[in-house]
Amino acid sequence: MPEFQWVPKASAIAREAGARLREFFEQGVETEYKGDVDLVTVADRASEKLIEDLLAEAFPSHGIYGEEGTRERLDSEFRWYVDPLDGTTNFAHGFPQFCVSMGLEQRQLGLKPEEDGTLVGAVIFDPNRDELFAAEKGRGAWLNGKRIKVSRTGELAEALVATGFPSHKRHLNPNIHFYQEFTLRSHGVRRAGSAALDLAYVACGRFDAFWEFNLNPWDTAAGLLLIEEAGGRGTDFAGGHYRLNSREVLASNGLIHEELLGFFKDMFAGRELTPIPTPHEFAQRRAERAAR
Ligand code: IPD
Ligand code: CA
Ligand code: CA
Repeated sequence: MPEFQWVPKASAIAREAGARLREFFEQGVETEYKGDVDLVTVADRASEKLIEDLLAEAFPSHGIYGEEGTRERLDSEFRWYVDPLDGTTNFAHGFPQFCVSMGLEQRQLGLKPEEDGTLVGAVIFDPNRDELFAAEKGRGAWLNGKRIKVSRTGELAEALVATGFPSHKRHLNPNIHFYQEFTLRSHGVRRAGSAALDLAYVACGRFDAFWEFNLNPWDTAAGLLLIEEAGGRGTDFAGGHYRLNSREVLASNGLIHEELLGFFKDMFAGRELTPIPTPHEFAQRRAERAAR
């Protein structure tokens, strides 16, 4: 393991928050609604408070930008993007796929608020599998102390990929078309419900690629650095640089990135859509077969 600057303390914090999440998970929690199907629980808030307090102790000068509302010292050189519980819907239903995600940005002097600094640190902790993913810029990506690399899969046809669906304005999102097309063209598409873990899985080669619309910096900051340090690539859907606020993320092992970008381009241009039968057409054909 290299000499890390922030990862040791951040890992201890993520582990402590993860242990709190496990306690809540075992005892069961009530669910509230932030939006349509945007859930939040006491565990999200307790985890964020714990991380906020521990980060302030460990790195008193650093800023914090947390999903549940923490906005601390945002004029500092360093800023943590914190998702205290990524995978709340899974958590609320007792489905054990969720994590704590913390990504560290270094903001050079003079940056405008809308400009990105450099991602320099990342920790994602899965308390259900006791898996700690960590990275620092220039020091590689690691899983429980072992170096990780993205996969070597060279084409989409041999890839296992992942996505997620937004919880706001679901009816306006076209992702089901992308889900369909990539399902037909790959080994499969998983939708496991934690974007941060999906990204960590691209970094360690369990997935070959991941995409999602409408993500936030606390979902992606840590995962993107992990992927870059593991030799992969992250962009928007047009191939532009990943940005913390770009909302859309396409991340991959790098080898299949151009192929994926080609599909996004074609699909946004109205090409490459494979017709599938409607349920009604399917039922009619089934009835016809049964009548023969
Ligand atoms: C959600 C998860 C999910 C993704 C959603 C996110 P949350 O985060 O990462 O996988 O599909 O877009 O909002 O709300 O559980 O922290
Ligand atoms: Ca999240
Ligand atoms: Ca969350």
